[in-house]
Amino acid sequence: MKQDWKPGTMIYPLPAILVSCGSTAEEYNLITVAWTGTLCTNPPMCYISVRPERHSYAIIKKNMEFVLNLTTEDMAFATDWCGVRSGRDYDKFEEMRLTPGKATIVSAPIVEESPLNIECRVKEIISLGSHDMFIAEVVNVRADERYLNPQTGKFELSESHPLVYLHGAYYGLGKKIGKFGWSVEKKQ
Ligand SMILES: Cc1cc2nc3c(=O)[nH]c(=O)nc-3n(C[C@H](O)[C@H](O)[C@H](O)COP(=O)(O)O)c2cc1C
Repeated sequence: MKQDWKPGTMIYPLPAILVSCGSTAEEYNLITVAWTGTLCTNPPMCYISVRPERHSYAIIKKNMEFVLNLTTEDMAFATDWCGVRSGRDYDKFEEMRLTPGKATIVSAPIVEESPLNIECRVKEIISLGSHDMFIAEVVNVRADERYLNPQTGKFELSESHPLVYLHGAYYGLGKKIGKFGWSVEKKQ
Protein backbone atom coordinates (compact mmCIF):
# COMPACT_ATOMS: atom_id res chain seq x y z
CA MET A 1 0.00 0.00 0.00
CA LYS A 2 1.14 3.55 -0.77
CA GLN A 3 0.12 6.80 0.94
CA ASP A 4 -0.41 10.20 -0.71
CA TRP A 5 1.65 12.93 0.91
CA LYS A 6 1.42 16.66 0.45
CA PRO A 7 3.72 17.82 -2.35
CA GLY A 8 7.35 18.20 -1.36
CA THR A 9 10.75 17.58 -2.87
CA MET A 10 12.12 14.30 -1.68
CA ILE A 11 14.77 13.72 -4.28
CA TYR A 12 17.34 11.95 -2.14
CA PRO A 13 20.19 11.23 -1.69
CA LEU A 14 21.88 14.55 -2.41
CA PRO A 15 25.29 15.97 -1.70
CA ALA A 16 25.63 18.43 1.16
CA ILE A 17 28.17 20.87 -0.19
CA LEU A 18 29.99 23.87 1.23
CA VAL A 19 29.49 26.93 -0.94
CA SER A 20 32.16 29.57 -0.42
CA CYS A 21 31.55 33.19 -1.32
CA GLY A 22 32.94 36.69 -0.85
CA SER A 23 35.60 38.69 -2.65
CA THR A 24 37.68 39.88 0.32
CA ALA A 25 38.87 38.03 3.45
CA GLU A 26 36.46 40.12 5.57
CA GLU A 27 33.56 39.08 3.37
CA TYR A 28 34.45 35.39 2.95
CA ASN A 29 31.66 33.06 4.08
CA LEU A 30 30.52 29.45 3.83
CA ILE A 31 26.97 28.17 3.47
CA THR A 32 25.93 24.53 3.43
CA VAL A 33 23.67 23.76 0.49
CA ALA A 34 21.82 20.61 -0.48
CA TRP A 35 19.55 22.19 -3.12
CA THR A 36 22.15 21.98 -5.87
CA GLY A 37 22.69 20.11 -9.07
CA THR A 38 23.87 19.87 -12.64
CA LEU A 39 21.95 21.72 -15.37
CA CYS A 40 24.05 21.22 -18.48
CA THR A 41 27.22 19.40 -19.58
CA ASN A 42 28.32 21.80 -22.31
CA PRO A 43 28.54 24.60 -21.37
CA PRO A 44 29.00 23.20 -17.86
CA MET A 45 26.21 24.72 -15.78
CA CYS A 46 24.85 24.10 -12.34
CA TYR A 47 22.58 25.70 -9.77
CA ILE A 48 22.22 26.37 -6.10
CA SER A 49 18.96 27.47 -4.48
CA VAL A 50 19.40 29.86 -1.56
CA ARG A 51 16.89 31.57 0.73
CA PRO A 52 17.14 35.38 0.42
CA GLU A 53 17.43 35.71 4.22
CA ARG A 54 20.76 33.85 4.31
CA HIS A 55 23.81 36.02 4.95
CA SER A 56 25.47 34.38 1.93
CA TYR A 57 22.63 35.38 -0.39
CA ALA A 58 23.59 39.08 -0.57
CA ILE A 59 27.28 38.21 -0.88
CA ILE A 60 26.68 35.90 -3.84
CA LYS A 61 24.28 38.35 -5.48
CA LYS A 62 26.80 41.21 -5.14
CA ASN A 63 29.80 39.29 -6.50
CA MET A 64 27.90 36.96 -8.86
CA GLU A 65 30.50 34.27 -8.08
CA PHE A 66 30.81 31.32 -5.73
CA VAL A 67 32.66 28.02 -5.35
CA LEU A 68 31.03 24.62 -4.78
CA ASN A 69 33.31 22.65 -2.47
CA LEU A 70 32.50 18.94 -2.36
CA THR A 71 32.51 17.53 1.16
CA THR A 72 33.80 14.32 2.73
CA GLU A 73 33.01 12.24 5.80
CA ASP A 74 35.88 14.05 7.57
CA MET A 75 34.17 17.34 6.80
CA ALA A 76 30.73 16.24 8.06
CA PHE A 77 30.89 18.18 11.34
CA ALA A 78 31.95 21.40 9.61
CA THR A 79 29.35 20.91 6.88
CA ASP A 80 26.56 20.61 9.40
CA TRP A 81 27.87 23.48 11.54
CA CYS A 82 28.13 25.85 8.57
CA GLY A 83 24.50 24.95 7.84
CA VAL A 84 23.17 25.96 11.25
CA ARG A 85 25.33 28.98 12.06
CA SER A 86 25.38 32.29 10.18
CA GLY A 87 28.29 34.27 8.85
CA ARG A 88 26.59 37.27 10.46
CA ASP A 89 27.80 35.89 13.81
CA TYR A 90 30.88 33.79 13.03
CA ASP A 91 33.94 33.55 10.84
CA LYS A 92 33.08 30.03 9.68
CA PHE A 93 36.50 29.33 8.12
CA GLU A 94 38.19 30.13 11.41
CA GLU A 95 35.64 28.39 13.67
CA MET A 96 35.80 25.16 11.62
CA ARG A 97 39.57 25.34 10.98
CA LEU A 98 38.96 25.32 7.25
CA THR A 99 41.51 26.96 4.97
CA PRO A 100 40.43 29.56 2.43
CA GLY A 101 42.58 29.22 -0.68
CA LYS A 102 42.87 31.18 -3.89
CA ALA A 103 40.60 30.12 -6.71
CA THR A 104 42.04 30.25 -10.22
CA ILE A 105 39.33 32.34 -11.92
CA VAL A 106 36.79 33.65 -9.40
CA SER A 107 37.34 35.96 -6.45
CA ALA A 108 35.50 33.68 -3.98
CA PRO A 109 37.87 31.45 -1.98
CA ILE A 110 38.12 27.69 -2.32
CA VAL A 111 38.07 25.35 0.70
CA GLU A 112 41.51 23.72 0.62
CA GLU A 113 40.32 20.64 2.59
CA SER A 114 37.73 19.81 -0.09
CA PRO A 115 38.76 17.24 -2.75
CA LEU A 116 37.10 19.21 -5.56
CA ASN A 117 36.37 22.91 -5.92
CA ILE A 118 34.01 24.01 -8.67
CA GLU A 119 34.39 27.69 -9.51
CA CYS A 120 31.12 29.24 -10.68
CA ARG A 121 29.98 32.51 -12.21
CA VAL A 122 26.28 33.38 -11.82
CA LYS A 123 24.38 33.85 -15.09
CA GLU A 124 20.85 34.28 -13.83
CA ILE A 125 18.89 34.47 -10.58
CA ILE A 126 15.36 33.12 -10.61
CA SER A 127 12.99 33.83 -7.71
CA LEU A 128 10.96 30.70 -7.12
CA GLY A 129 9.35 31.28 -3.70
CA SER A 130 11.16 30.26 -0.53
CA HIS A 131 14.41 30.00 -2.49
CA ASP A 132 16.09 31.87 -5.33
CA MET A 133 17.86 29.74 -7.87
CA PHE A 134 21.35 30.87 -8.88
CA ILE A 135 22.08 29.46 -12.31
CA ALA A 136 25.81 29.47 -12.87
CA GLU A 137 28.45 28.54 -15.40
CA VAL A 138 31.41 26.49 -14.19
CA VAL A 139 34.53 28.46 -15.11
CA ASN A 140 37.17 26.24 -13.50
CA VAL A 141 37.56 23.08 -11.42
CA ARG A 142 40.38 22.52 -8.92
CA ALA A 143 41.04 18.89 -8.09
CA ASP A 144 43.19 17.59 -5.24
CA GLU A 145 46.04 15.54 -6.74
CA ARG A 146 45.84 13.21 -3.73
CA TYR A 147 42.95 11.44 -5.46
CA LEU A 148 44.63 11.14 -8.86
CA ASN A 149 45.60 7.56 -9.62
CA PRO A 150 49.19 7.82 -10.93
CA GLN A 151 48.80 4.65 -13.06
CA THR A 152 45.52 5.46 -14.80
CA GLY A 153 45.43 9.25 -14.38
CA LYS A 154 41.83 8.79 -13.22
CA PHE A 155 40.39 10.98 -10.48
CA GLU A 156 39.19 8.54 -7.81
CA LEU A 157 36.58 10.70 -6.11
CA SER A 158 35.17 7.78 -4.12
CA GLU A 159 38.48 7.61 -2.23
CA SER A 160 37.72 11.01 -0.71
CA HIS A 161 34.75 9.36 1.07
CA PRO A 162 32.08 11.81 -0.12
CA LEU A 163 29.39 12.95 2.29
CA VAL A 164 25.83 11.98 1.39
CA TYR A 165 22.69 13.78 2.63
CA LEU A 166 19.44 11.85 2.86
CA HIS A 167 16.21 13.13 4.42
CA GLY A 168 17.84 15.13 7.20
CA ALA A 169 20.81 12.86 7.95
CA TYR A 170 24.40 12.41 6.75
CA TYR A 171 25.85 9.14 5.48
CA GLY A 172 28.92 7.73 3.78
CA LEU A 173 28.82 6.39 0.24
CA GLY A 174 28.29 2.63 0.66
CA LYS A 175 29.53 -0.11 -1.62
CA LYS A 176 30.16 0.12 -5.35
CA ILE A 177 27.45 -1.64 -7.37
CA GLY A 178 28.60 -1.19 -10.96
CA LYS A 179 29.97 1.38 -13.36
CA PHE A 180 28.51 3.47 -16.19
CA GLY A 181 27.29 1.13 -18.96
CA TRP A 182 28.03 -2.01 -16.98
CA SER A 183 24.45 -3.25 -17.39
CA VAL A 184 24.95 -3.85 -21.12
CA GLU A 185 28.55 -5.10 -21.02
CA LYS A 186 29.23 -8.64 -22.26
CA LYS A 187 29.74 -11.09 -19.41
CA GLN A 188 33.19 -12.75 -19.52
C1 LIG B 1 22.45 19.80 5.17
C2 LIG B 1 22.00 21.22 4.99
C3 LIG B 1 21.57 21.65 3.73
C4 LIG B 1 21.17 22.97 3.52
N1 LIG B 1 20.76 23.36 2.28
C5 LIG B 1 20.41 24.66 2.07
C6 LIG B 1 20.05 25.09 0.75
O1 LIG B 1 20.07 24.33 -0.21
N2 LIG B 1 19.70 26.39 0.59
C7 LIG B 1 19.67 27.28 1.65
O2 LIG B 1 19.32 28.47 1.44
N3 LIG B 1 20.02 26.90 2.91
C8 LIG B 1 20.41 25.61 3.13
N4 LIG B 1 20.78 25.21 4.39
C9 LIG B 1 20.75 26.16 5.49
C10 LIG B 1 21.94 27.14 5.49
O3 LIG B 1 23.15 26.45 5.28
C11 LIG B 1 21.97 27.85 6.88
O4 LIG B 1 20.81 28.65 7.03
C12 LIG B 1 23.22 28.68 7.12
O5 LIG B 1 23.28 28.98 8.49
C13 LIG B 1 23.25 29.96 6.32
O6 LIG B 1 24.46 30.60 6.57
P1 LIG B 1 24.70 32.15 6.28
O7 LIG B 1 23.64 32.92 7.02
O8 LIG B 1 26.08 32.40 6.81
O9 LIG B 1 24.61 32.34 4.80
C14 LIG B 1 21.18 23.88 4.61
C15 LIG B 1 21.62 23.45 5.88
C16 LIG B 1 22.04 22.15 6.06
C17 LIG B 1 22.53 21.72 7.41
